[in-house]
Amino acid sequence: MTPPAKPTAPQSLAGIPVARTVGELRREIAQARAKGRKIGFVPTMGALHEGHVSLARISRARGAFGVVSIFVNPTQFAPTEDFNRYPRTEEADATKLRMAEACDLLFIPSPAEMYPKGFATHVAVGGPSEGLETDFRPHFFGGVATVVTKLLTQVGPDFAVFGEKDYQQLLVIKRLVADLNLPVEIVPGFTVREPDGLAMSSRNAYLSADERATAASMNRVLMEVGKAARRGMDLRAAEKMGEEALIEAGFQKVDYVAIRDAATLATLTKLDGPARVLAAAHLGKTRLIDNLGI
Ligand code: PAJ
Repeated sequence: MTPPAKPTAPQSLAGIPVARTVGELRREIAQARAKGRKIGFVPTMGALHEGHVSLARISRARGAFGVVSIFVNPTQFAPTEDFNRYPRTEEADATKLRMAEACDLLFIPSPAEMYPKGFATHVAVGGPSEGLETDFRPHFFGGVATVVTKLLTQVGPDFAVFGEKDYQQLLVIKRLVADLNLPVEIVPGFTVREPDGLAMSSRNAYLSADERATAASMNRVLMEVGKAARRGMDLRAAEKMGEEALIEAGFQKVDYVAIRDAATLATLTKLDGPARVLAAAHLGKTRLIDNLGI
C-alpha cells in the first residue's frame, strides 16, 4: 500500500507563505487558529496597489493573522471583457505586502482549484445587486458572489475587508453574508486615491498618459455633483450635470452617474439621510468606476 502523500509545506513569494490549494490553506489556517490567532481576510484579483495594501493593513491593525487571496476570477468577466489581459503580477504583489508587513499568508488558487470539472453552483444575490453595474455587466455580481462565497468558506475568517471603491459590491457582499448567515464580519475600507484624486485601480495601468490626465476628473465631477445635490439641486438634474461634465472632460461614454441611498442603493428623490454618488464611464478601452459619500 502506498502511504498517503505527506502535506507539503507551502511555497513562498517574497518571504510570504503561499497556499495554492484549499488543503494547504486550511492547514495553515488551522495552525494559526491553534496559536489563538483571529483570521482577517482580503480577497483580491492581484495587480495590487496601495488601496489593496491599505485593506490588508486592517488585518494587522486588528492583530489578526492576515490572509490575502489573489485570484483573477473568470466568472465575473464577460467574454468581451479584459480577463485575458488583466494584469498578473504575483511576485510584485507579494513584495508590496511584504514591505507593508500586511500579510501572513497568500492564497493563490488556480482556476481548476476553484472551478473543478463539473462545477455547477451559482450564487445569485438580489437587492443591492439590481441596477447600476448590473445594467451594464449583468454577469458580474453572480460571479463575484459565487467566488466570494467560496473564498469565505475556504478561509473561514473572523472578518473580511472590502473596499468602498467598489461600493455596490460591498453592499452585495454584506447582503450575501447576512442572508446565508456566514459567520464573518464584513469590514469596509476607505478608497485610497492618487494625489490628483483618481481612485487607485488595477485597471488604471491600461490608461495612456492623456487618458490618465482625464481620469482624475471623475473624482472632481463626483464632488461637484455631491455639492450641487446638497445645495438643493434636483437630483436627476445633478446626475445629468455629472454625465455631461464627464463627457466634457474627455470620457467617451458614461454608463451612469447616480445619487442613491447609501445603505440600500435605492433611488432617491431628495437627500434626507446618508447618500452616495456613484459613477461608471469609459475612457478609451478602460471602464472606470468611483463613488463618494454625500
Ligand atoms: P479587486 O478589484 O482586486 O479588489 C480587491 C479589493 O480591493 C476590493 O474589496 C476593492 O474594493 C478594493 N479596492 C480596490 N481599489 C481600492 C482603492 N483604491 N482603495 C481601497 N480599496 C480598493 O474586487 C475585486 O477584486 C473582486 O471582485 C473580488 C472581491 C476579489 C472577487 O473576485
